Amino acid sequence: MKKVLSLVLAMLMLLGTLGLTACGASYNTVDDIKAEGKLVMYTEAGFAPYEFVYNNEIVGVDVEIMKAVAAKLGVELVIEDVLFDTITTSVGNGKADAGAAGITITAERAEEVDFSVPYTSTEQYIIVAADNADITNAEELKGKKIGVQQGTTSDFMVEGLISDGTLAGATLTPYDAPAVAAASIGKIDAVVTDKLTAQIIVDGSNGAYKTFPCVKADGSAVAEVEEYGVAVAKGNETLLAVINEVLEDLIAQGKIAEWESYYNDLAATVEE
Ligand code: ARG
Repeated sequence: MKKVLSLVLAMLMLLGTLGLTACGASYNTVDDIKAEGKLVMYTEAGFAPYEFVYNNEIVGVDVEIMKAVAAKLGVELVIEDVLFDTITTSVGNGKADAGAAGITITAERAEEVDFSVPYTSTEQYIIVAADNADITNAEELKGKKIGVQQGTTSDFMVEGLISDGTLAGATLTPYDAPAVAAASIGKIDAVVTDKLTAQIIVDGSNGAYKTFPCVKADGSAVAEVEEYGVAVAKGNETLLAVINEVLEDLIAQGKIAEWESYYNDLAATVEE
């Protein structure tokens, strides 16, 4: 009886695996991408210096990275600008070949997509009106109206701090992009977003806003340091290998840091 049961179980598992492979393989391998002649990247282009619109074109660090990947594959790079919180799902189900959008590598997202090696790191920053004297650290966000970009690590972090009572009485409003949230300062008290993006928004605000690290009064962290990775569909090993190879080269050549500073300066010229 036991033998029969385990045989049935083994067959079921085999069928399950076959079924999963059959419907899970809905992504383009490197060969498919080469055959189609294009690599489709999803991003959300309101996130300088990683992706933003300049002269009607999407530019930035992530665009440079993915252009290098496309060049390595000998194909054209196609960039789609979508809502940030849809990117990992679309990459996970093969609608896009890769997600490059300053995406923080997290355990939750890693259930939906596979991540490249990390290519840069960041931390959370708070943006407030330049004359705001009562919010000077993360703890003082208690009871305040806070804006974030929907579905970002900033969103999840603030939500966590509100629900564990650290930021009792605070309210959270999600926006489509960090700059859209910042434009609502006045109606809301503060915006939380990634460091470089926060600094660019403030630099372009003509002195309207200021920014500082989202840490406690004593300077201790409220969240972990974050690392950005490029996302591909789960199991898309051939594409991930090429992306990792390109990233490792770029990192070794200091290209990522170079582009961060170049696009930081370029973004400052557009965000007036
Ligand atoms: N690093 C943050 C996250 O992964 C924010 C990324 C936002 N990126 C963007 N292109 N808007 O949640």
